[in-house]
Amino acid sequence: MSQNSAKRLRFYDMQPEVNTLYDDVINGLSQPQKQIPPKYFYDERGSALFDAICDTPEYYPTRTEMAIIENNLAAICDRLGHDCVLIEPGSGSSQKVRLLLDRLEPHTYMPLDISSDYLKSVAHGLAQEYPEINVTAACVDYTDPLELPHSTGDLRRIAFFPGSSIGNFEPQEAVTFLGNMADLVRPNGGLLIGVDLKKDPAILNAAYNDQQGITAQFNLNLLAHINRELNADFDLDCFTHRAFYNELLGRIEMHLVSTIKQQVDIAEHCFEFDCNETIHTENSYKYTVTEFQALAHEVGLEPIEVWQDEAGLFSIQYYQLNSSISERASD
Ligand SMILES: C[S@@+](CC[C@H](N)C(=O)[O-])C[C@H]1O[C@@H](n2cnc3c(N)ncnc32)[C@H](O)[C@@H]1O
Repeated sequence: MSQNSAKRLRFYDMQPEVNTLYDDVINGLSQPQKQIPPKYFYDERGSALFDAICDTPEYYPTRTEMAIIENNLAAICDRLGHDCVLIEPGSGSSQKVRLLLDRLEPHTYMPLDISSDYLKSVAHGLAQEYPEINVTAACVDYTDPLELPHSTGDLRRIAFFPGSSIGNFEPQEAVTFLGNMADLVRPNGGLLIGVDLKKDPAILNAAYNDQQGITAQFNLNLLAHINRELNADFDLDCFTHRAFYNELLGRIEMHLVSTIKQQVDIAEHCFEFDCNETIHTENSYKYTVTEFQALAHEVGLEPIEVWQDEAGLFSIQYYQLNSSISERASD
């Protein structure tokens, strides 16, 4: 790292996973429908596999979202305003934000992610690539209320939440998260969010069942992560990937299916699996623009602008706190 970038790069590890992985896994596997929260997909291999999923021909969200940003870059940057603090929960490879960084010239970019080592290496790369921008990276769990690692003074805060990660929350949890974002950006800031849209189920089913089997590896890697961290004995050859669009609930569901009757030991716990019993590992809710705006409205976030691709596959939406709430907050 150059001295120049070292001055501008800060890294904070709040060690979010250490306290909760064991409890979440034991609790989740004790439910009638076994489940494990999707945030545990993202160890270093999981993060790399997610990047590989984004490059598969079937996975339209990443390339569509990037094209929307590229095609509307000037209008988006005009909305966000220069010299802001750009905060990205779940920043991953920080690939999409590069499109904004090139033109927006924020005062500070804050990537926040649960995958500590991956975040650290991405932040180092960014600090070198953008020596004029302060980079403050923090390893956090964004499902907790977010506290920034240092003061941002009076600078305008913009939260950037692409990738339709909002779809991984249950709708009411999404409202809680949006409320946390509204608190974070304060009355003068904004939220730029990527939201995947409802569409032909065949497109959705293909996107989560790519031909190369990378999504399957990503799903199964969750068990490898748990084996390593909790000294568990999941046999990865005895589980398979299943993903399907649940039209009634408007969501993709991802599961790991036990292919035999088996038992799995995790620390002092033993879990029984019937043949074909599943662990529910992820939901990805799809919304119409109107449905999503109704969720944001519940926490006082008002739509300012929506950008979409021509086929209406994906949307980028920009929100600010509505003025009556802003006035109350600044009293
Ligand atoms: C689907 S990727 C999206 C990456 C990037 N924002 C994009 O749109 O391409 C999700 C990222 O969020 C991170 N993540 C998932 N759950 C998280 C949580 N609860 N707290 C913080 N980061 C989380 C993962 O480590 C991963 O890097």
